[in-house]
Amino acid sequence: MLFREVLLCAFGALLAACGSSAKTPALPVAAAAKATATEKRVGEISGSLALDDGEVHLRLSVLAADTLRLRLFRGPERNIVGSFAVDPARGAASAPYMLEDAPNSVTLRTAALGVRIDKTPPFHVALLDERGQVSNEQAGPVSWQAGGVRSSWQLAPDARVFGLGDKARGLDRRGQSFELWNTDAYGWKPDADPLYKSIPFVLLLDHGRANGLFFDSPARAQVDVGKTDAQILSYSSAVGDSLDLYLLAGPDPKHVVSAFSALTGRTPLPPRWALGYHQSRYSYLTEKEARSVAARLRSDAIPSDALWLDIDYQLGNAPFTVDPQAYPNLPGMVGDLERAGLRVVLITDPHIKSYQGQKAPSGYAPYDTGAAGDHFLHDPSGGFLEAKVWPGASVFPEFTLSRTRTWWGDLYRDFVKQGVAGFWNDMNEPASFDETKTLPVAAQHRLDDGATLTHGFVHNAYGSLNAQATFEGLSRLRPNERPFVLTRAAYAGTQRFAATWTGDNSATREHLALTIAQLANLGVSGYAFAGADVGGFVGCPDQELLVEWTELGALQPFFRNHSGKDTCRREPWVHGPVSEARIRKAIERRYRLLPYLYTVFEEASRTGLPVLRPLWLEYPGDAASERNANSYLLGADLLVAPKLVAGNVAYVVQLPPSGWYDTVSEALIAKGGPVSVGASNDSVRLFARAGAIIPKQPLIQHTDQAPTGALELDLWPGEPCTGNLYLDDGRSLDYQRGAFRRVSYACRAHDAGIDISAQSTGPFTTWWPSTELVLHDVRRAPSSVVDGRGAALRHDYDAKRRRTVVHLPGSSADWSVRLVF
Ligand code: GLC
Repeated sequence: MLFREVLLCAFGALLAACGSSAKTPALPVAAAAKATATEKRVGEISGSLALDDGEVHLRLSVLAADTLRLRLFRGPERNIVGSFAVDPARGAASAPYMLEDAPNSVTLRTAALGVRIDKTPPFHVALLDERGQVSNEQAGPVSWQAGGVRSSWQLAPDARVFGLGDKARGLDRRGQSFELWNTDAYGWKPDADPLYKSIPFVLLLDHGRANGLFFDSPARAQVDVGKTDAQILSYSSAVGDSLDLYLLAGPDPKHVVSAFSALTGRTPLPPRWALGYHQSRYSYLTEKEARSVAARLRSDAIPSDALWLDIDYQLGNAPFTVDPQAYPNLPGMVGDLERAGLRVVLITDPHIKSYQGQKAPSGYAPYDTGAAGDHFLHDPSGGFLEAKVWPGASVFPEFTLSRTRTWWGDLYRDFVKQGVAGFWNDMNEPASFDETKTLPVAAQHRLDDGATLTHGFVHNAYGSLNAQATFEGLSRLRPNERPFVLTRAAYAGTQRFAATWTGDNSATREHLALTIAQLANLGVSGYAFAGADVGGFVGCPDQELLVEWTELGALQPFFRNHSGKDTCRREPWVHGPVSEARIRKAIERRYRLLPYLYTVFEEASRTGLPVLRPLWLEYPGDAASERNANSYLLGADLLVAPKLVAGNVAYVVQLPPSGWYDTVSEALIAKGGPVSVGASNDSVRLFARAGAIIPKQPLIQHTDQAPTGALELDLWPGEPCTGNLYLDDGRSLDYQRGAFRRVSYACRAHDAGIDISAQSTGPFTTWWPSTELVLHDVRRAPSSVVDGRGAALRHDYDAKRRRTVVHLPGSSADWSVRLVF
């Protein structure tokens, strides 16, 4: 036994997990405070530790070995809100734990982390790592001022802090303070705060060891990451006198990210078309214009999968309408474009044009049915609260009510019937054109159980509830299809429902560079499917910036070219054939990489690891990687290193400490470190992990096209030598019932040569007629290449490029190859 005084799995359902090793349960006895051992609430976990001092109450519960929930509140415990972030599918999970009851403190430990709490108020809390050592502790007692709450934690001298979504202030959050208040931030400047999203999650990384803190409240809050006091991280909110904090275990930062995404839900596997190139603009004003952009995408052979319509397709900008003059035959256009492999995505903002005060029905179904069903937020007089947005006076769905979410989801019925593939929920902070840019904080939202919450409390969750309603509606309307929703506002957990983007950025180099830190921190904060407007929304990118932004954007998870009204056009061809050729090439690179990219998205949906990863996530403890905001990893095996500065110049890339191949020169950089990339006609250099096997496909023009030709496997020698490929139909949910195939590749060097193998599971049919295995960095031609049965395989050796290409006939995903030198 590890502990002197041990209570194994003391409570409720946990006894089952403990079996006969459980000692007689005995309550931990608090010295100054009264400690009770069990606290059971319907829908909650069955075991928790309670400390009460009459005024302040502490509850600690175990959700999983890597996830503890710590709640502190004053007054009687209210059963007001469930979490707006925690994935209900997570259920009432729990895990075995041990309690050590010492005279002055009580310690709860799982296999992965623990907490030691002073029994004397104010219940000082220390977070323990898997070894039982203090990994963090409160910097002071939780304080309750002005009806709010403040919780502060120590920052170790060298600790770096990541997370907080896409806040636009560098990669490391340390030394900065942030406001969590979802805001329509048109034309935001780097450094601007608050922005559109609020994700109150931080990952603390200290010499390669990590832990995470998630402050679960959608209320307005400030997170001060060592700005006021360099050694203290504080979360404070003036709304609500309770603290709901999740403590997440490392020590590996990947584990923290995975635990946080297990708690708040993972980015579901998107439909494959959503991984393609998206063409958008505010706005394609007419059907004629939209059709001509679509036609040009195809005639210029720009691989693409979606065309987006912004608010001007609507009649008077009213959501769920279509302007019959601008778009006389939207369903016809949707069908024609779909036949050309282009999906249509429509914007549908959450505000509904108001017809309040009118006696007869307005004929605008979203308002009429919403009013009849009492689905809009009320004002104090009992009428519907109105604020001005794009359609003029508008009302706001009460997304806190499940019946309203259902009503909202059903509004998509006609568009879905017409074949519209995806939907865009913008302005859902919620934005208004009033001075406060949003709704009055005193407005009362209704909850399913009859309780109410102020808008000031619910605000940061509003967009998330909007995205949830859309996602769930689409799931009902097309039950076996993966929905695609884009949201602008988000709270923790929104990744379960929608992809996101960074809002109204600008056409500047600074904004281009910032996409890396923003998307990396979004990824760490659970958001795997995210992007930034390619080209910059506000302003005009010159030719060089548009080309280079496309080159980088093509290697980020969500890839959409979008631009503001009255800005210069930025479709791929606007700067003439030379820049169009580079843009095409950049998009083609993405389409060739789709097998790899789709596999990484599938991994994200299963593990919560982001698609776009900061280098430190894979290389914790490497100080240079922890500082590097200029490069990132796409999955674990490709490192994306853009030039970022203007001009056709050389630049230096700082590689993490392992072997990397420059995929252009094919040179091995054996130990990482700084490496120079010469001036070239491509602003992005890809490095492959030495040991990576990367699947690629022949070029297609859109994702409905089956590639014709061989599956290509790029093998970059090194240790460990691995690769993966995930296949399914790319659109339905059949994969959840087993209709997929997962291929694992491995290679092993030995005295005589190298063995390479592919092993697959799952029944999904492969698309390729043959496989081409491209081995890089091969110093001489192999003397023989045979398959698993000893039959010779055709192969070509390119001495100049030091490559051997092995041709494997057939569609099999299970084979082995031996090369002898
Ligand atoms: C907001 C969005 C932008 C969109 C515009 C019009 O500014 O952020 O992407 O184009 O509204 O709908």
